[in-house]
Amino acid sequence: MKPTLGTCYYPEHWPNELWADDARRMVDAGLKVVRIGEFAWSRLEPKPEQFDWQWMDQAINTLGEAGLELVLGTPTATPPRWMLDRYPDMLAVDAAGHKRKFGSRRHYCFSHVGYKDESLRIASLLAERYAQSAHIAAWQIDNEYGCHETVVSYSDSARLGFRYWLRDKYQSIEQLNSAWGNVFWSMEYSSFEQIDLPNLTVTEANPAHVLDFRRFSSDQVVDYNRAQADAIRKHSSKPLIHNYMGRITDFDHYKVGKDLEIASWDSYPLGFLEDRNRLGEEHKIKYARQGDPDFQAFHHDLYRAVGNGRWWVMEQQPGPVNWAPHNPAPLPGMVRLWTWEAIAHQAETVCYFRWRQAPFAQEQMHAGLLRPDSIESNYFGEVVRVARELGELCEDGELEGKAADVALMFDYESCWAWETQPQGESFDYFELVMDFYRELRKLGLSVDIVSPKVEALGEAKLLLIPGIMHWTESLRKSLSEFRGTVLIGPRAGSKTSNFSIPDTLPPAIPNFDCKISSVESLRAGTERPLVQGGNIHSWVETMDLNHNKESDFIVVEQTEAGQAVLVSNANISYLGGWPDQSALSRILQRACGEAGIETETMPEGIRRRASARYGFIFNYNAEDIDYAGQIIPAAGVVFASKIK
Ligand code: GAL
Repeated sequence: MKPTLGTCYYPEHWPNELWADDARRMVDAGLKVVRIGEFAWSRLEPKPEQFDWQWMDQAINTLGEAGLELVLGTPTATPPRWMLDRYPDMLAVDAAGHKRKFGSRRHYCFSHVGYKDESLRIASLLAERYAQSAHIAAWQIDNEYGCHETVVSYSDSARLGFRYWLRDKYQSIEQLNSAWGNVFWSMEYSSFEQIDLPNLTVTEANPAHVLDFRRFSSDQVVDYNRAQADAIRKHSSKPLIHNYMGRITDFDHYKVGKDLEIASWDSYPLGFLEDRNRLGEEHKIKYARQGDPDFQAFHHDLYRAVGNGRWWVMEQQPGPVNWAPHNPAPLPGMVRLWTWEAIAHQAETVCYFRWRQAPFAQEQMHAGLLRPDSIESNYFGEVVRVARELGELCEDGELEGKAADVALMFDYESCWAWETQPQGESFDYFELVMDFYRELRKLGLSVDIVSPKVEALGEAKLLLIPGIMHWTESLRKSLSEFRGTVLIGPRAGSKTSNFSIPDTLPPAIPNFDCKISSVESLRAGTERPLVQGGNIHSWVETMDLNHNKESDFIVVEQTEAGQAVLVSNANISYLGGWPDQSALSRILQRACGEAGIETETMPEGIRRRASARYGFIFNYNAEDIDYAGQIIPAAGVVFASKIK
């Protein structure tokens, strides 16, 4: 694989006299890929069924003839205003029952059948018209499913669709009543037509009801995406891609990924640090111009799993963004660092968003590679440098990846389950998994993310499964076949798929006879100190280890008050609480030791990643760091190092 660079371009934003020069400048900068079209519906079909393809034909030819490969987006994230006249009820509805309005983007409800048909219509027309163009290298379907909280919609279409979905799942209303436990509070139904969406209830709705609605909402995205994929495939065999987002978990990305050839995501490290990170003010100040040292890497690894190995960064921040609470400029060097980090995690392509800063509308304060006056931005040179370095470094096959020793499971359904019933306001599944990921990276490790749905859990030496809500039959099977060391918990296996406590009590791990008899959530200031140092915070479980006198559990960690927190038996350990950073690091080091994995504590802000032939070292600090016998420059990357 030879990674390439690209950019996101909006020909419809610029006079067409500029296009050829823009294309030439892209090529001169070393860019090979350009994505266009994903918001251009109002220009492609200004009035219903009245098309203007001419400008798109010209844009594709101009860019393609300059030597660029094109990714053509379907414009379905931005239905034009006339669409609302056709379908006034196509708008998504929020939990308070308010219809969302026209005037930005993503204003459609995934369950609306009429809008879905319109999406297929425009996707088919685009595919039919451009499938034979030699310039089209791939298709992007829609744009950032779930961005701006647009997966869960409480519309009339969703209500109707949900009833069908439930009927299909449960077959009879009696089975639904029993699965949801509707005898509680006299919530029993006598027909599917009586079932409403779980918003605006007086107090919390039944968690089983909510979880099924979240599953339904996710399935709507999967179906919508699959329908567009099928429509395009009728005309084109080029790869299909979607650009996912950071920390958006409202739909099952693994399921969407199964219908596409390549996963991609939109990486905005400084925006995400500001608005999606809960590590506190000091962390935000220290990394304000670099981004969190682990957030990007986590998503690189996640989307590699979602794409079954094939993934891109479709949008890479190239300067200040416009949408976070504060929008500083990246430290000089960071645009190059972020790009190399993606490549070290096996990205095939990294595209910068966007080519030229727009002087108008919502994103006029968002940097591009060019300023609005077409002069190169301060970061342009970093992009040119990466393009040059890629040319120098990458012989074919040189950047091949390799399987990591550590696999970390991430599950979307568990996100929905613990949002539905957090049982303590600080319990957050995404943060729990991120804590594991972060501490592993601080130990110098490369990590693969695994889906609970994979048939085989692979050859990793160590598998970590924090917080998974439920053991499916297939996961039980793959777990029992896994030969490495396994660390499970907290909260793992604590529900059935119907959102009840399992008869056997959690964690219900095959061949692991420990029971969780009760759980507590902890407020800040009531942490439980551990004998070996550090604390348990937010969540702690009481383990019943004595119900089976034969068991030979080893209690590895306990609180100062004698509460067992980490127990182990053969290759499996169970963690009954949420350890702070120092305790989690110790627990992970022990697990690595058992699994025969070497660890090395990284200096603050230094991270590394191994590919088949090279190790990469990244310095997220604003200062040079002396590490492994060399100076790693501030905001810099050292590649082709000897570190494996
Ligand atoms: C992404 C989106 C782009 C643009 C960008 C700004 O989420 O896909 O269209 O809005 O953010 O940072």
